[in-house]
Amino acid sequence: YGDASQKIDYVFKVVLIGDSAVGKSQMLARFARNEFSLDSKATIGVEFQTRTLVIDHKSVKAQIWDTAGQERVDILTGEKGGIWSDFMIKEELITLLKVAFGLGTNVDFFSAVGGSMNRYRAVTSAYYRGAVGAMLVYDITKRQTFDHIPRWLEELRSHADKNIVIILVGNKSDLEDQRAVPTEDAKEFAQKEGLFFLETSALQSTNVENAFMTVLTEIF
Ligand code: GTP
Ligand code: MG
Repeated sequence: YGDASQKIDYVFKVVLIGDSAVGKSQMLARFARNEFSLDSKATIGVEFQTRTLVIDHKSVKAQIWDTAGQERVDILTGEKGGIWSDFMIKEELITLLKVAFGLGTNVDFFSAVGGSMNRYRAVTSAYYRGAVGAMLVYDITKRQTFDHIPRWLEELRSHADKNIVIILVGNKSDLEDQRAVPTEDAKEFAQKEGLFFLETSALQSTNVENAFMTVLTEIF
């Protein structure tokens, strides 16, 4: 597990995305530190961990970024999107909000609340900037987390480099008796979208290493 003294030939940034509680942080804990916790807390903000590996006689530092998968409701439209979906502005709602905020309709709404909105945008692009790999994670026991994958893919494709290597990951394969997403459905989707695909268990340490290595070697 990573020797800090060695020289680094490459640094690869990989981002983890997917709904809340699918196991992104525990996959990262398993990969970076070979740890797992059943009472993992929801991630707040952005975190990253690194692990240095040798691929083809070169040392590669994998820098894995992890963020909250919590769905955010657009404050202006009430529309549900992936995280940090771009704000779609509706004139009449802005007017309503101006009144609610007691701003008066002649005040520029964006200069009043625009600061925090711009921060969201900046965070989104910072998260994806420079990423050469991505893991799109769902929970095999929660159909909804798989149904949201196209949204995450859309966000990824609109913010990340077009050559980014993507793997679709169905986590919690240890909970086979609660399976809600057939392997075949995911395989078919991955094939259609040109993604790698694996089912993993961060708990049992099944395929986690394999999933990260698939992305890292393909980048390489
Ligand atoms: P957010 O940070 O909210 O986006 O969630 P997350 O995707 O990072 O989920 P997290 O890693 O915190 O895991 C959520 C819950 O699922 C925790 O209770 C974990 O212990 C559990 N979990 C994660 N991976 C597995 C797994 O492979 N199998 C089982 N059975 N539980 C898992
Ligand atoms: Mg997390």
